[in-house]
Amino acid sequence: MSLDLKSLVRTIPDYPKKGILFRDITTLIEHPEGFKDSIEQIAARYRGQGITHVAGIEARGFIFGAGVAIALGTGFVPIRKKGKLPGETIGQNYALEYGVDTIEIHADVVGPGHKVLLVDDLIATGGTAIAAIGLLRRTGAVCDDAAFVIDLPEIGGAAKLEAEGVRVSSLMA
Ligand code: PRP
Ligand code: ADE
Repeated sequence: MSLDLKSLVRTIPDYPKKGILFRDITTLIEHPEGFKDSIEQIAARYRGQGITHVAGIEARGFIFGAGVAIALGTGFVPIRKKGKLPGETIGQNYALEYGVDTIEIHADVVGPGHKVLLVDDLIATGGTAIAAIGLLRRTGAVCDDAAFVIDLPEIGGAAKLEAEGVRVSSLMA
């Protein structure tokens, strides 16, 4: 019988702010088979589709994105919070379910001819992912695919991405 990945994610109420139901993936990644299955199930959907790079969003997106890049045999593109990348960057502000932030990528990391898969642990409002896809597309790269471990469909982020022409997959809601 296959592992129930959803049962490995715990929900912590009122973190980081009252009213937020925080989906904590640390319990999933602490589970050796759960972590491995999550990576493998995401990678299986994108094999043979010409993905040249996997991009992951700091910090939780690095955990899954790096694993998916290794599984697909691609390079990994870190999308970092403001001020962390040493080279020339391009950046984008965005709103979170519980705040505001800025993400950046190196300006020369991907470009025309590249096909990038965005990976993150979770999509809520979609603000982070839309900012990330916007950045990747500004370079001339194609970014039409985004994979998440968790989708919170009641918040509507995945629908917003689909409206931008992005195919969205997730392992659980
Ligand atoms: C979380 C999560 C996603 C984003 C989803 O990251 O890992 O990146 O929020 O929210 P959205 O769909 O409403 O934009 P967070 O900014 O909390 O950073 P972390 O990974 O460093 O914890
Ligand atoms: N990022 C944005 N919303 C979140 C939530 N409800 N749980 C975990 N991470 C999040």
